[in-house]
Amino acid sequence: MDNPIKAKNILLGVSGSIAAYKAVDLASQLTKAGANVDVIVTPSAEKLVSALTFRSVTGRKAYTEADLWKTEEHVVHITLARRADLMVIAPASANSLAKLAHGIADNLLTVTALVIRCPLAVAPAMDAGMYDHVATQENLQILAGRSVTILGPKEGHLASGLKGKGRMLEPTILFSAIRFILSRTNPLSGKRILVTAGGTQEALDPVRFISNHSSGKQGYAVAQAALDAGAQVTLVSARTAITPPYGAELIEVVSAAEMHTAVMEKVQQVDAVIMAAAVADFRPASSSEQKIKKDATLQSIKLEPTTDILKELGEFKQQHPKLILVGFAAESENLIQNASEKLKRKNLDIIVANDISRSDRGFAVDNNEVILLFRDGSRKEVPLQNKENIAREIIDNLSPLLQS
Ligand code: CTP
Repeated sequence: MDNPIKAKNILLGVSGSIAAYKAVDLASQLTKAGANVDVIVTPSAEKLVSALTFRSVTGRKAYTEADLWKTEEHVVHITLARRADLMVIAPASANSLAKLAHGIADNLLTVTALVIRCPLAVAPAMDAGMYDHVATQENLQILAGRSVTILGPKEGHLASGLKGKGRMLEPTILFSAIRFILSRTNPLSGKRILVTAGGTQEALDPVRFISNHSSGKQGYAVAQAALDAGAQVTLVSARTAITPPYGAELIEVVSAAEMHTAVMEKVQQVDAVIMAAAVADFRPASSSEQKIKKDATLQSIKLEPTTDILKELGEFKQQHPKLILVGFAAESENLIQNASEKLKRKNLDIIVANDISRSDRGFAVDNNEVILLFRDGSRKEVPLQNKENIAREIIDNLSPLLQS
Protein backbone atom coordinates (compact mmCIF):
# COMPACT_ATOMS: atom_id res chain seq x y z
CA MET A 1 0.00 0.00 0.00
CA ASP A 2 1.27 3.46 -0.95
CA ASN A 3 1.83 6.18 1.59
CA PRO A 4 -1.62 7.60 2.49
CA ILE A 5 -0.73 11.07 1.20
CA LYS A 6 -0.09 9.97 -2.39
CA ALA A 7 -2.66 11.26 -4.90
CA LYS A 8 -4.75 12.88 -2.13
CA ASN A 9 -6.21 16.37 -2.55
CA ILE A 10 -5.08 18.41 0.40
CA LEU A 11 -6.46 21.87 0.94
CA LEU A 12 -3.91 23.89 2.89
CA GLY A 13 -5.26 27.08 4.44
CA VAL A 14 -2.62 29.60 5.52
CA SER A 15 -3.73 32.34 7.89
CA GLY A 16 -1.98 35.39 9.28
CA SER A 17 0.66 34.25 11.72
CA ILE A 18 4.40 34.66 11.29
CA ALA A 19 4.60 30.84 11.10
CA ALA A 20 3.05 31.22 7.61
CA TYR A 21 6.55 30.90 6.12
CA LYS A 22 6.77 27.37 7.55
CA ALA A 23 3.61 26.43 5.65
CA VAL A 24 5.71 26.66 2.48
CA ASP A 25 7.86 23.79 3.74
CA LEU A 26 4.74 21.79 4.64
CA ALA A 27 3.26 22.39 1.17
CA SER A 28 6.55 21.26 -0.34
CA GLN A 29 6.75 18.07 1.75
CA LEU A 30 3.16 17.15 0.90
CA THR A 31 3.75 17.76 -2.80
CA LYS A 32 6.92 15.63 -2.76
CA ALA A 33 4.92 12.81 -1.14
CA GLY A 34 2.54 12.87 -4.11
CA ALA A 35 -0.36 15.02 -2.87
CA ASN A 36 -2.21 17.61 -4.94
CA VAL A 37 -1.92 20.63 -2.68
CA ASP A 38 -4.36 23.52 -3.12
CA VAL A 39 -3.29 26.48 -1.01
CA ILE A 40 -5.54 29.31 0.18
CA VAL A 41 -3.68 32.32 1.53
CA THR A 42 -5.71 34.77 3.65
CA PRO A 43 -5.26 38.53 3.13
CA SER A 44 -3.12 38.83 6.30
CA ALA A 45 -1.03 35.77 5.40
CA GLU A 46 -0.43 37.33 1.96
CA LYS A 47 1.43 40.14 3.72
CA LEU A 48 3.86 37.54 5.09
CA VAL A 49 4.18 35.03 2.21
CA SER A 50 3.09 35.41 -1.37
CA ALA A 51 0.84 33.03 -3.26
CA LEU A 52 3.61 32.76 -5.83
CA THR A 53 5.88 31.14 -3.23
CA PHE A 54 3.29 28.42 -2.67
CA ARG A 55 2.70 28.02 -6.37
CA SER A 56 6.45 27.50 -6.86
CA VAL A 57 6.56 24.55 -4.45
CA THR A 58 3.19 22.93 -5.28
CA GLY A 59 3.25 23.48 -9.04
CA ARG A 60 -0.41 24.52 -8.78
CA LYS A 61 -2.28 27.75 -8.54
CA ALA A 62 -2.40 29.11 -4.99
CA TYR A 63 -5.61 30.96 -4.17
CA THR A 64 -5.99 34.41 -2.62
CA GLU A 65 -8.87 36.66 -1.66
CA ALA A 66 -8.96 38.08 -5.19
CA ASP A 67 -9.97 34.65 -6.54
CA LEU A 68 -13.22 34.74 -4.56
CA TRP A 69 -14.36 37.77 -6.52
CA LYS A 70 -13.00 36.98 -9.97
CA THR A 71 -15.80 36.60 -12.47
CA GLU A 72 -14.03 33.85 -14.45
CA GLU A 73 -13.56 31.65 -11.36
CA HIS A 74 -17.04 30.26 -10.77
CA VAL A 75 -17.70 29.50 -7.09
CA VAL A 76 -14.06 28.73 -6.40
CA HIS A 77 -14.73 27.90 -2.73
CA ILE A 78 -17.15 25.14 -3.73
CA THR A 79 -14.70 23.64 -6.24
CA LEU A 80 -11.83 23.66 -3.74
CA ALA A 81 -13.94 22.26 -0.91
CA ARG A 82 -15.56 19.48 -2.93
CA ARG A 83 -12.34 17.96 -4.19
CA ALA A 84 -10.53 18.03 -0.82
CA ASP A 85 -9.76 14.79 1.01
CA LEU A 86 -8.49 16.81 3.97
CA MET A 87 -8.36 20.47 4.89
CA VAL A 88 -5.48 21.64 7.05
CA ILE A 89 -5.17 25.18 8.35
CA ALA A 90 -1.53 25.80 9.24
CA PRO A 91 -0.86 28.20 10.76
CA ALA A 92 -4.28 28.81 12.27
CA SER A 93 -4.29 32.28 13.85
CA ALA A 94 -6.44 33.11 16.89
CA ASN A 95 -8.67 35.18 14.60
CA SER A 96 -9.22 32.36 12.09
CA LEU A 97 -9.92 29.87 14.89
CA ALA A 98 -12.51 32.24 16.32
CA LYS A 99 -14.19 32.56 12.93
CA LEU A 100 -14.16 28.80 12.36
CA ALA A 101 -15.66 28.15 15.80
CA HIS A 102 -18.54 30.56 15.11
CA GLY A 103 -19.17 29.82 11.45
CA ILE A 104 -18.06 33.25 10.26
CA ALA A 105 -17.30 33.14 6.55
CA ASP A 106 -15.76 36.48 5.63
CA ASN A 107 -12.85 35.42 3.41
CA LEU A 108 -11.99 32.64 0.95
CA LEU A 109 -10.43 30.47 3.66
CA THR A 110 -13.31 30.63 6.14
CA VAL A 111 -16.02 30.41 3.51
CA THR A 112 -14.34 27.28 2.09
CA ALA A 113 -14.09 25.80 5.59
CA LEU A 114 -17.89 25.99 5.80
CA VAL A 115 -18.31 24.08 2.56
CA ILE A 116 -15.95 21.14 3.13
CA ARG A 117 -17.32 17.72 4.04
CA CYS A 118 -13.85 16.19 4.54
CA PRO A 119 -11.96 16.13 7.88
CA LEU A 120 -10.44 19.40 9.12
CA ALA A 121 -7.20 19.80 11.07
CA VAL A 122 -5.84 23.05 12.48
CA ALA A 123 -2.34 23.94 13.68
CA PRO A 124 -2.71 26.95 16.01
CA ALA A 125 0.12 29.51 16.06
CA MET A 126 0.01 32.69 18.09
CA ASP A 127 1.54 34.44 21.06
CA ALA A 128 1.24 32.56 24.36
CA GLY A 129 -1.08 35.18 25.87
CA MET A 130 -3.49 34.88 22.94
CA TYR A 131 -3.37 31.10 23.10
CA ASP A 132 -4.04 31.07 26.85
CA HIS A 133 -6.93 33.53 26.53
CA VAL A 134 -10.22 32.01 27.56
CA ALA A 135 -11.78 33.03 24.22
CA THR A 136 -9.19 31.04 22.23
CA GLN A 137 -9.41 28.07 24.59
CA GLU A 138 -13.21 28.03 24.29
CA ASN A 139 -12.99 28.29 20.50
CA LEU A 140 -10.60 25.33 20.41
CA GLN A 141 -12.98 23.34 22.61
CA ILE A 142 -15.85 24.08 20.25
CA LEU A 143 -13.77 22.91 17.29
CA ALA A 144 -12.54 19.76 19.08
CA GLY A 145 -16.17 18.99 19.92
CA ARG A 146 -16.90 19.04 16.19
CA SER A 147 -14.14 16.45 15.57
CA VAL A 148 -11.67 19.00 14.24
CA THR A 149 -8.14 17.71 14.90
CA ILE A 150 -6.10 20.24 16.86
CA LEU A 151 -2.38 19.84 16.15
CA GLY A 152 -0.26 21.62 18.77
CA PRO A 153 0.80 24.29 19.51
CA LYS A 154 4.02 23.58 21.36
CA GLU A 155 6.15 25.46 23.85
CA GLY A 156 9.10 27.41 22.56
CA HIS A 157 10.50 30.69 21.28
CA LEU A 158 7.75 33.02 20.02
CA ALA A 159 7.85 35.95 17.59
CA SER A 160 7.40 38.33 20.56
CA GLY A 161 10.79 37.22 21.82
CA LEU A 162 9.16 35.48 24.77
CA LYS A 163 8.99 31.78 25.43
CA GLY A 164 5.66 30.05 25.89
CA LYS A 165 3.03 27.84 24.37
CA GLY A 166 1.89 29.06 20.98
CA ARG A 167 4.54 27.89 18.53
CA MET A 168 3.24 26.03 15.49
CA LEU A 169 4.30 22.39 15.28
CA GLU A 170 7.21 21.87 12.88
CA PRO A 171 6.26 21.03 9.27
CA THR A 172 7.72 17.49 9.54
CA ILE A 173 5.42 16.77 12.49
CA LEU A 174 2.41 18.27 10.70
CA PHE A 175 3.30 16.16 7.67
CA SER A 176 3.34 12.99 9.83
CA ALA A 177 0.04 13.96 11.46
CA ILE A 178 -1.56 14.45 8.04
CA ARG A 179 -0.21 11.06 6.95
CA PHE A 180 -1.81 9.53 10.04
CA ILE A 181 -5.19 11.27 9.59
CA LEU A 182 -5.39 10.18 5.96
CA SER A 183 -4.60 6.56 6.84
CA ARG A 184 -7.46 6.02 9.29
CA THR A 185 -9.95 4.61 6.81
CA ASN A 186 -7.46 2.25 5.14
CA PRO A 187 -8.13 -1.52 5.07
CA LEU A 188 -6.55 -2.37 8.45
CA SER A 189 -8.73 0.21 10.23
CA GLY A 190 -9.83 -1.24 13.57
CA LYS A 191 -7.01 -3.83 13.66
CA ARG A 192 -4.49 -3.60 16.48
CA ILE A 193 -0.87 -4.47 15.81
CA LEU A 194 1.99 -4.65 18.27
CA VAL A 195 5.45 -4.13 16.79
CA THR A 196 8.72 -4.54 18.67
CA ALA A 197 11.89 -2.80 17.49
CA GLY A 198 15.52 -2.10 18.33
CA GLY A 199 18.19 -4.03 20.13
CA THR A 200 17.76 -4.67 23.83
CA GLN A 201 20.50 -3.67 26.28
CA GLU A 202 21.49 -5.98 29.08
CA ALA A 203 23.21 -4.14 31.92
CA LEU A 204 26.51 -5.23 33.34
CA ASP A 205 26.80 -2.24 35.65
CA PRO A 206 25.36 1.33 35.61
CA VAL A 207 27.48 2.34 32.59
CA ARG A 208 28.04 -0.83 30.57
CA PHE A 209 25.75 -3.18 28.75
CA ILE A 210 25.67 -6.04 26.24
CA SER A 211 23.72 -5.30 23.08
CA ASN A 212 23.73 -5.84 19.30
CA HIS A 213 23.92 -3.91 16.02
CA SER A 214 20.18 -3.39 15.56
CA SER A 215 19.32 0.26 14.78
CA GLY A 216 15.55 -0.24 15.01
CA LYS A 217 15.10 1.04 11.43
CA GLN A 218 13.30 -2.04 10.12
CA GLY A 219 10.95 -2.27 13.12
CA TYR A 220 10.09 1.46 12.98
CA ALA A 221 9.43 1.14 9.24
CA VAL A 222 7.11 -1.81 9.94
CA ALA A 223 5.23 0.27 12.54
CA GLN A 224 4.86 3.11 10.02
CA ALA A 225 3.64 0.73 7.30
CA ALA A 226 1.06 -0.74 9.71
CA LEU A 227 -0.17 2.78 10.56
CA ASP A 228 -0.31 3.66 6.85
CA ALA A 229 -2.48 0.58 6.29
CA GLY A 230 -4.94 1.92 8.88
CA ALA A 231 -4.03 -0.17 11.95
CA GLN A 232 -3.73 1.01 15.55
CA VAL A 233 -0.11 0.43 16.43
CA THR A 234 1.69 -0.12 19.71
CA LEU A 235 5.45 0.12 19.32
CA VAL A 236 7.45 -1.57 22.06
CA SER A 237 10.87 -0.14 21.44
CA ALA A 238 14.31 -0.70 22.85
CA ARG A 239 16.56 2.40 22.76
CA THR A 240 17.04 3.82 19.25
CA ALA A 241 17.95 7.15 17.71
CA ILE A 242 14.82 7.25 15.55
CA THR A 243 11.74 9.47 15.92
CA PRO A 244 8.71 7.23 16.54
CA PRO A 245 6.03 7.28 13.86
CA TYR A 246 3.19 9.74 14.50
CA GLY A 247 0.10 8.05 15.88
CA ALA A 248 1.79 4.98 17.37
CA GLU A 249 1.49 4.24 21.08
CA LEU A 250 5.11 4.10 22.21
CA ILE A 251 6.28 1.88 25.06
CA GLU A 252 9.97 2.36 25.72
CA VAL A 253 11.96 -0.49 27.21
CA VAL A 254 15.64 -1.21 27.72
CA SER A 255 16.19 -4.89 28.46
CA ALA A 256 14.80 -8.17 27.13
CA ALA A 257 13.01 -8.65 30.47
CA GLU A 258 11.26 -5.26 30.15
CA MET A 259 10.31 -6.02 26.56
CA HIS A 260 8.93 -9.39 27.65
CA THR A 261 6.74 -7.76 30.35
CA ALA A 262 5.50 -5.02 27.99
CA VAL A 263 4.62 -7.47 25.20
CA MET A 264 2.84 -9.97 27.45
CA GLU A 265 0.80 -7.16 29.06
CA LYS A 266 -0.42 -5.99 25.65
CA VAL A 267 -0.87 -9.26 23.78
CA GLN A 268 -4.47 -9.84 24.93
CA GLN A 269 -5.51 -6.56 23.29
CA VAL A 270 -3.99 -7.02 19.83
CA ASP A 271 -4.72 -8.92 16.62
CA ALA A 272 -1.09 -9.37 15.54
CA VAL A 273 2.43 -9.15 16.94
CA ILE A 274 5.43 -8.43 14.72
CA MET A 275 8.65 -9.17 16.59
CA ALA A 276 11.18 -7.09 14.68
CA ALA A 277 13.31 -6.42 17.78
CA ALA A 278 16.72 -7.96 18.15
CA VAL A 279 16.19 -9.36 21.62
CA ALA A 280 19.29 -10.42 23.50
CA ASP A 281 19.40 -14.19 23.96
CA PHE A 282 21.63 -13.85 27.02
CA ARG A 283 22.09 -11.32 29.82
CA PRO A 284 24.68 -11.00 32.58
CA ALA A 285 23.61 -13.31 35.42
CA SER A 286 24.03 -10.37 37.77
CA SER A 287 24.33 -6.65 37.23
CA SER A 288 26.58 -4.69 39.56
CA GLU A 289 24.92 -1.73 41.29
CA GLN A 290 28.20 0.15 41.30
CA LYS A 291 30.49 0.72 38.34
CA ILE A 292 32.96 -2.15 38.04
CA LYS A 293 36.42 -0.59 38.53
CA LYS A 294 39.21 -1.58 36.21
CA ASP A 295 41.47 -2.53 39.10
CA ALA A 296 38.92 -5.17 40.13
CA THR A 297 39.62 -8.56 38.63
CA LEU A 298 36.98 -9.35 36.00
CA GLN A 299 38.07 -12.34 33.98
CA SER A 300 34.72 -13.50 32.71
CA ILE A 301 31.07 -12.50 32.64
CA LYS A 302 28.56 -15.13 33.65
CA LEU A 303 25.54 -15.10 31.36
CA GLU A 304 22.06 -16.52 31.69
CA PRO A 305 19.40 -16.97 28.98
CA THR A 306 16.61 -14.42 28.57
CA THR A 307 13.01 -15.46 27.94
CA ASP A 308 12.31 -16.17 24.27
CA ILE A 309 9.39 -13.75 23.90
CA LEU A 310 8.32 -14.99 20.49
CA LYS A 311 8.33 -18.61 21.62
CA GLU A 312 6.12 -17.67 24.56
CA LEU A 313 3.80 -15.81 22.16
CA GLY A 314 3.68 -18.98 20.03
CA GLU A 315 2.55 -20.93 23.11
CA PHE A 316 -0.06 -18.25 23.88
CA LYS A 317 -1.29 -18.59 20.27
CA GLN A 318 -2.13 -22.26 20.88
CA GLN A 319 -4.99 -21.01 23.10
CA HIS A 320 -5.63 -17.92 20.94
CA PRO A 321 -5.32 -19.14 17.34
CA LYS A 322 -6.67 -15.88 15.90
CA LEU A 323 -3.53 -14.04 17.03
CA ILE A 324 -1.24 -13.54 14.02
CA LEU A 325 2.48 -13.84 14.76
CA VAL A 326 5.31 -12.56 12.61
CA GLY A 327 8.93 -13.24 13.55
CA PHE A 328 12.29 -12.30 12.09
CA ALA A 329 15.16 -14.67 11.55
CA ALA A 330 18.58 -13.14 11.19
CA GLU A 331 20.78 -15.93 9.89
CA SER A 332 24.39 -16.07 8.79
CA GLU A 333 24.08 -19.55 7.19
CA ASN A 334 21.40 -22.01 5.97
CA LEU A 335 18.87 -19.15 5.74
CA ILE A 336 15.79 -21.02 4.54
CA GLN A 337 16.29 -24.14 6.64
CA ASN A 338 17.02 -22.28 9.88
CA ALA A 339 14.19 -19.80 9.34
CA SER A 340 11.57 -22.45 8.55
CA GLU A 341 12.59 -24.41 11.64
CA LYS A 342 12.11 -21.22 13.70
CA LEU A 343 8.70 -20.63 12.12
CA LYS A 344 7.54 -24.11 13.21
CA ARG A 345 9.25 -24.07 16.60
CA LYS A 346 7.75 -20.69 17.52
CA ASN A 347 4.29 -21.40 15.98
CA LEU A 348 4.40 -18.38 13.63
CA ASP A 349 2.30 -17.34 10.64
CA ILE A 350 5.11 -15.56 8.81
CA ILE A 351 8.85 -15.41 9.35
CA VAL A 352 10.95 -12.70 7.72
CA ALA A 353 14.29 -14.29 6.97
CA ASN A 354 17.34 -12.20 6.26
CA ASP A 355 20.90 -13.10 5.50
CA ILE A 356 23.14 -11.10 7.82
CA SER A 357 26.38 -12.32 6.28
CA ARG A 358 26.24 -9.42 3.74
CA SER A 359 27.28 -5.94 4.94
CA ASP A 360 25.06 -3.96 2.49
CA ARG A 361 21.79 -5.23 3.92
CA GLY A 362 20.19 -6.02 7.26
CA PHE A 363 21.62 -4.61 10.47
CA ALA A 364 22.14 -0.84 10.82
CA VAL A 365 21.98 -0.04 7.08
CA ASP A 366 19.11 1.47 5.06
CA ASN A 367 18.47 -1.50 2.78
CA ASN A 368 17.37 -5.05 3.29
CA GLU A 369 16.63 -8.16 1.26
CA VAL A 370 14.38 -10.77 2.82
CA ILE A 371 12.45 -13.93 2.15
CA LEU A 372 8.99 -14.23 3.66
CA LEU A 373 8.22 -17.80 4.71
CA PHE A 374 4.60 -18.67 5.42
CA ARG A 375 3.04 -21.26 7.69
CA ASP A 376 1.72 -23.28 4.71
CA GLY A 377 5.27 -23.76 3.40
CA SER A 378 5.01 -21.11 0.65
CA ARG A 379 7.55 -18.32 0.37
CA LYS A 380 8.09 -14.95 -1.25
CA GLU A 381 11.44 -13.38 -2.09
CA VAL A 382 11.63 -9.62 -1.56
CA PRO A 383 14.66 -8.24 -3.44
CA LEU A 384 17.14 -5.67 -2.08
CA GLN A 385 15.40 -2.34 -1.41
CA ASN A 386 14.96 0.22 1.33
CA LYS A 387 13.51 -0.83 4.65
CA GLU A 388 10.32 1.21 4.09
CA ASN A 389 9.50 -0.89 1.02
CA ILE A 390 10.37 -4.13 2.84
CA ALA A 391 8.06 -3.04 5.68
CA ARG A 392 5.25 -2.38 3.20
CA GLU A 393 5.71 -5.89 1.75
CA ILE A 394 5.50 -7.40 5.21
CA ILE A 395 2.26 -5.53 5.99
CA ASP A 396 0.79 -6.27 2.54
CA ASN A 397 1.39 -10.00 3.16
CA LEU A 398 0.06 -9.84 6.70
CA SER A 399 -3.15 -7.97 5.75
CA PRO A 400 -5.03 -10.91 4.17
CA LEU A 401 -4.40 -12.99 7.31
CA LEU A 402 -5.77 -10.24 9.52
CA GLN A 403 -8.82 -9.70 7.36
CA SER A 404 -9.76 -13.36 6.90
N1 CTP B 1 13.19 -13.30 19.86
C1 CTP B 1 12.43 -13.14 21.00
N2 CTP B 1 12.98 -13.32 22.23
C2 CTP B 1 14.29 -13.63 22.35
C3 CTP B 1 15.07 -13.80 21.19
C4 CTP B 1 14.49 -13.62 19.97
O1 CTP B 1 11.24 -12.85 20.87
N3 CTP B 1 14.79 -13.75 23.56
C5 CTP B 1 12.56 -13.14 18.55
C6 CTP B 1 13.14 -12.05 17.67
O2 CTP B 1 12.47 -10.81 17.87
C7 CTP B 1 12.91 -12.59 16.26
C8 CTP B 1 12.95 -14.09 16.45
O3 CTP B 1 12.75 -14.32 17.83
O4 CTP B 1 11.64 -12.22 15.77
C9 CTP B 1 14.20 -14.77 15.99
O5 CTP B 1 15.28 -14.34 16.69
P1 CTP B 1 16.71 -15.00 16.45
O6 CTP B 1 17.66 -14.40 17.43
O7 CTP B 1 17.09 -14.96 15.01
O8 CTP B 1 16.40 -16.49 16.77
P2 CTP B 1 16.58 -17.36 18.04
O9 CTP B 1 15.25 -17.90 18.39
O10 CTP B 1 17.26 -16.60 19.10
O11 CTP B 1 17.46 -18.56 17.50
P3 CTP B 1 19.04 -18.67 17.23
O12 CTP B 1 19.70 -17.79 18.22
O13 CTP B 1 19.26 -20.09 17.43
O14 CTP B 1 19.25 -18.23 15.81
